[in-house]
Amino acid sequence: MSTKNLPFFLSGLVVKGFGRGSKALGTPTANLEDKVVDSLPADFKTGVYYGWACIDIQVYEMVASVGWNPFYKNEKKTVELHLLHKFENDFYGKQIKAIFTGYIRPEKDFTSEEELIKAIKHDIEFAKEQLQQPNMIVYKDNQFLIG
Ligand SMILES: Cc1cc2nc3c(=O)[nH]c(=O)nc-3n(C[C@H](O)[C@H](O)[C@H](O)COP(=O)(O)O)c2cc1C
Repeated sequence: MSTKNLPFFLSGLVVKGFGRGSKALGTPTANLEDKVVDSLPADFKTGVYYGWACIDIQVYEMVASVGWNPFYKNEKKTVELHLLHKFENDFYGKQIKAIFTGYIRPEKDFTSEEELIKAIKHDIEFAKEQLQQPNMIVYKDNQFLIG
C-alpha cells in the first residue's frame, strides 16, 4: 500500500508505555516521547509501518505502530517501535532514530489478544521480506541513522 510522507525520518527519546508489548504480546515496543507524537504531520496516516531503527549506533530492522491501539482503546496516540532483535535491556531514556520506509496496514481492533499477536507476527514477516528489497536496504546505511 502506498502512502505519502514516506520515507519518514524521526528521532526521539524512549519513554514508558503500558508495558503490554513485552508481557502480553511478546513484542516489546519502544514508545517515543510525546514531542515526537505531537510533531507528526497532520496528514500522517496512523497504522503499522516498517523500516530501520538505530539505537546505540546499531541499525536494526523495525516494525512500528502509530495510533491509538484500538484493541486496548488508548486515549493518547502513540508511536511505538519494535526492533527485530532480542535485547537484554530496555531502552528507557535512550535516543532512537528511525526511518519508516513502508506502510503495512491500518491499526485494527481484534476479538482476542491471540488475533493481535497473529497480526503482529504477520507484520514482522512481511517487513523482513520487504526490507530485503534493494530500494529498502539503501536506507539502512542512511547518514540520518548512523551519523
Ligand atoms: C507491528 C505492530 C502492529 C500492531 N498492530 C496493532 C493493531 O492492529 N491494533 C492495536 O490495537 N494495536 C496494535 N499494535 C500496538 C500494540 O497494541 C501495542 O504495541 C501494545 O499494546 C504495547 O503497548 P505498550 O508499549 O504501551 O504497552 C501493534 C504493535 C506492533 C509492534
